Amino acid sequence: MRESMLNKCPVSSYDQVCEVFKKELGETPDKIFTEFNPVPIASASLAQVHVAHTHDGRKVAVKVQHTHMTDTAAADHATVDLIVNTLHRIFPSFDYRWLVDEIHESLPKELDFLVEAKNSEKCMDNFRKLSPHIADYVYAPKVYWNLSTSKLLMMEFMDGAQINDVKTMRKLGIQPSEVSKLVSQTFAEMMFKHGFVHCDPHAANLLVRPMPSRSNKKPQLVLLDHGLYKELDVSTRTNYAALWKALVFADAKAIKENSVKLGAGEDLCALFAGILTMRPWNRVIDPAVDHLVIQGSESDRSELQMYASQYFSEISELLRRLPRVILLMLKTNDCLRSVNNALLQGSSLETFLIIGKISSEAVIEAKKYETRSLLRRLSVWLEEISVEARLLGMQLALWLLQLRKALPW
Ligand SMILES: Nc1ncnc2c1ncn2[C@@H]1O[C@H](COP(=O)(O)OP(=O)(O)O)[C@@H](O)[C@H]1O
Ligand SMILES: [Mg+2]
Repeated sequence: MRESMLNKCPVSSYDQVCEVFKKELGETPDKIFTEFNPVPIASASLAQVHVAHTHDGRKVAVKVQHTHMTDTAAADHATVDLIVNTLHRIFPSFDYRWLVDEIHESLPKELDFLVEAKNSEKCMDNFRKLSPHIADYVYAPKVYWNLSTSKLLMMEFMDGAQINDVKTMRKLGIQPSEVSKLVSQTFAEMMFKHGFVHCDPHAANLLVRPMPSRSNKKPQLVLLDHGLYKELDVSTRTNYAALWKALVFADAKAIKENSVKLGAGEDLCALFAGILTMRPWNRVIDPAVDHLVIQGSESDRSELQMYASQYFSEISELLRRLPRVILLMLKTNDCLRSVNNALLQGSSLETFLIIGKISSEAVIEAKKYETRSLLRRLSVWLEEISVEARLLGMQLALWLLQLRKALPW
């Protein structure tokens, strides 16, 4: 299905592209650029991307919205509305009305490229201010504001390997395991600390390149396509961080508590934990350090497929209950899992060490902020020490695993 959908993405003709340019900037591409390749490098449902060179010699990527988008967006929304509501009337347990609301909210934003440009700058600003230790390792293409409008987005052209292209990455001297670490760190910082999250991190939207102007081959992650962002308010962000902290440390009581706070309900919190981690409940609460690690084996896959069909109505009910912003976190999570899968053939203990560390930092930070009394401060301090000890335990286990792999016998 994915293959045929990708192949059927609409492509605007060069005449249509010129029409957009005329309407938006008053000139055709040949007047604005010294060189404009009429064949797009990519085309998706909303837009297509062309490569061009500016008069001052810069290579740019130009995202051009398909001309028909403005007319068809309303019709597409009405179609989804009709299908979802009809199905719900016939099969009451099939309740995906939240999807209609989500499209209603997100589509107009995704169709305004100035929102996308602002998102990319806000994201980079957050890294500089809130995560300075990795800010240099995360990059978004510069926006040329003077040549951008709501339907045309002009950006710096980015050279790099697509995140799932392990072969090219290795040729560039970059280790896939380093990239996986960076992806996990980047998105954990966005989710647990910034509360402003790029919600479409699938492989085509993530590039990797060697850190510019450094001799070492550390990777830099390039984030593309900033159309779909979600904001988490402070309490949702903290509860979500606390839930992930509890998942990583297999703390059943805290998993339940925070799942309920996020709206999953007591009866569906095990299912919620299962969807977040793609692990059955007995693995979720297993105290082994690697309890959340997915091996990506055939039996894992068939077990999950079995769960998905067995619990279809419970899953629908859970999706109906959860706030939409959390549903988008689930989607983001799925994209990241698939990126990790391409990089590592599964997930690694290191992924969960990173998630555990950053979610714990966010939880402790929030507790420190709201705590005034000396006694409460002392309890936060004790929690901090216990988290550090558990993370150290995970780190030791990871080193042992790496040592075992490195030894020749
Ligand atoms: N600044 C850029 N530099 C290089 N390639 C880009 C750039 N922006 C987009 N692309 C390419 O175009 C594709 C589509 O762009 P994207 O912004 O993801 O559009 P869409 O919203 O249609 O998915 C990307 O997957 C990438 O291959
Ligand atoms: Mg894209």
